[in-house]
Amino acid sequence: MKIDILTLFPEMFQGVFTESILKRAQENEKVEINLHNFRTFSKDPHQKVDDTPYGGGAGMVLMAQPIFDCVESLRTKESKVILLTPSGKPYQQRMAYSLSKEKHLILICGHYEGFDERIRTLADLEISIGDYVLTGGEIPAMVLVDSVVRLLPDVIQEESHLADSFNDANLLDYPTYTKPRNFRGMEVPEILLSGDHQKIEAYRLQESIKKTEALRPDLLEKRD
Ligand code: ADE
Repeated sequence: MKIDILTLFPEMFQGVFTESILKRAQENEKVEINLHNFRTFSKDPHQKVDDTPYGGGAGMVLMAQPIFDCVESLRTKESKVILLTPSGKPYQQRMAYSLSKEKHLILICGHYEGFDERIRTLADLEISIGDYVLTGGEIPAMVLVDSVVRLLPDVIQEESHLADSFNDANLLDYPTYTKPRNFRGMEVPEILLSGDHQKIEAYRLQESIKKTEALRPDLLEKRD
């Protein structure tokens, strides 16, 4: 998979993309991630990327030209162009699965007070990561990339994400434990030490349902 990200702040991605699983996925050529500062596409003599809103009002609005030119320099028939915006479709695990099947993602990070409405015509999909407003689309782009890349083949063990919370079963993850058996008086459930895999599987499903009922009953309503 190839991911191109349009941002005025490429340095914000340092750390998130240069550590841990995202670092390894790039080193192992499971994903190629490129950051593009669309300011370099501005035709303004001072490389301006924003201007005041028509009709008046506070703040600056991102101009269409640099973003159009940058997207058009990257887009092919295989690209899916995604605009990160608080008014987008609420992001969910099933969208991460669907995006992980794409060959090429182009992510546009908005910034400042907003963007020229005509930029929306570039996007195949508009995504919001939640009902709150961030200073820009960079953190949402990081969230999206992390959630998609971990689902690519051979990035993490497939069993790990089949057991994830929010997989198709709409259940939270079952509780897990590691050594020691007793930590400050809190015991590991006896059944996990039994070696009986059928019983352990049944116990885990039951615990997943209990946890979901207690913490996210809304998810159970969505279950078939
Ligand atoms: N840009 C600012 N806030 C955002 C959000 N919640 N989701 C996606 N993009 C955003």
